[in-house]
Amino acid sequence: MTVTTCKTAVKGKALATVPSLHARYHELLEGRDTSSAAWLNEQLAHARRLPDDLPADPAQLQAWSAQHAAQVAEAYAAYLQQRRQGAPRRYFANRAQALWFLQQVAPTKAVDGAWLHSTLRHWGDPRFHGLIRTYLEELGSGDPRCNHVLIYQRLMSRIGCPGQAELEDERYLQGAIQLALGQHGDAFLAEMIGYNLGYEQPPLHLLITTYELAELGIDGQYFQLHVTIDNAASGHAHLSTQAVRQLCPAHDQHAFYERVRLGYRLNDLGVDTPSLISRFDLEAELLRALEHKRNFGQFMHSDHCRLQQRTVNQWLAEPGAMPAFLQALQAQGWIRRGEQPAQSRWWALIEGPSAPMYGVFDAYEKQLWHDWIASGWQTRVRRVMPGSWDVPVQPEDAPLGRSQDENIDALIEKMAGNRHAAPEGLIATRAYLRATGLIQEQPC
Ligand SMILES: [Fe+2]
Ligand SMILES: [Fe+2]
Repeated sequence: MTVTTCKTAVKGKALATVPSLHARYHELLEGRDTSSAAWLNEQLAHARRLPDDLPADPAQLQAWSAQHAAQVAEAYAAYLQQRRQGAPRRYFANRAQALWFLQQVAPTKAVDGAWLHSTLRHWGDPRFHGLIRTYLEELGSGDPRCNHVLIYQRLMSRIGCPGQAELEDERYLQGAIQLALGQHGDAFLAEMIGYNLGYEQPPLHLLITTYELAELGIDGQYFQLHVTIDNAASGHAHLSTQAVRQLCPAHDQHAFYERVRLGYRLNDLGVDTPSLISRFDLEAELLRALEHKRNFGQFMHSDHCRLQQRTVNQWLAEPGAMPAFLQALQAQGWIRRGEQPAQSRWWALIEGPSAPMYGVFDAYEKQLWHDWIASGWQTRVRRVMPGSWDVPVQPEDAPLGRSQDENIDALIEKMAGNRHAAPEGLIATRAYLRATGLIQEQPC
């Protein structure tokens, strides 16, 4: 994965840490991080100050989870009712906002399930089997069609955002927590179980996101599959409450559960999903994209290209001139805001294979232009996204000789972070399933 620089946005105590979250995230991914245990303790200290909604008695967790699911279902039914009565989308005002959101959460989605990595070593202990099953399902049991990280990567490729966007440092917080828990899951067993408990309860925003992405013609397989696979009756949410019960030591129940609580609250560090989505500013995003592109385009235009008495090259040469450039495009009549984008001369310059500026703007940037130009103009035309890529199933791997522990340890190593999504990691996952005898039919 290509790494680009990031803006360092130090906001709040959870972020006032060196190295940056972005750097820590990548060090953890590459297995080079040496201070994440201490860092995890710092995050837990922040979590200590947060409230939570867990029951006082862990024996109530199953009922709590069922109640949570019922509340979410009720709130979702109310949302659907509002939509039927003509309410607008709650999260995504336009398609650009949805694409922006998908990029913002990509660092977290790229390590989906990582907090459970250490459980793989406990394959001989049945108390861990629920957590191991959860992890293996995140990995699609080594089937690239079902591996959650790959499903998300394919989604990003399809929407034209295959690389890593430039993101605020805070976007790496949850991913870094997940990777650190995955690395130190034995020392932070209770906290890891608590984090899993929080992460695996399907939230209302997951249902709404799934619904609105489909409405915008964006393939929501990644989100849809979490609605089903994380269900509270038998899915990951159910397994997460079972894990607390099974792994809580009888002699130390209270202290263990207190640590579970702290781990649970780690989910609440950083910004919550609805607030994140509401931070989207269409014009600011368009300007940011233009400012970034400006450097590449400033010598590319002929001096015949003039806009309001200035050549396009002159417009592009000046830092910070993009707001005036947008104004000039409108004043010149090249952009007619509030109308169907096809009515704007500018749109014809950038969209379509025979457009003079074909390929200058990627799919996300074109969506920003489209939605900024349309601004209020309601399109009923849904973009039809191509269907899922056909990913060939890997040929059956050569069977392992014997399920020796050292072999299994080597396999486990290849299943960490997001390594499991690489071809070698997928093979290792399938070999792990065979070697440990934990093979199971996979939903996907
Ligand atoms: Fe997942
Ligand atoms: Fe899950």
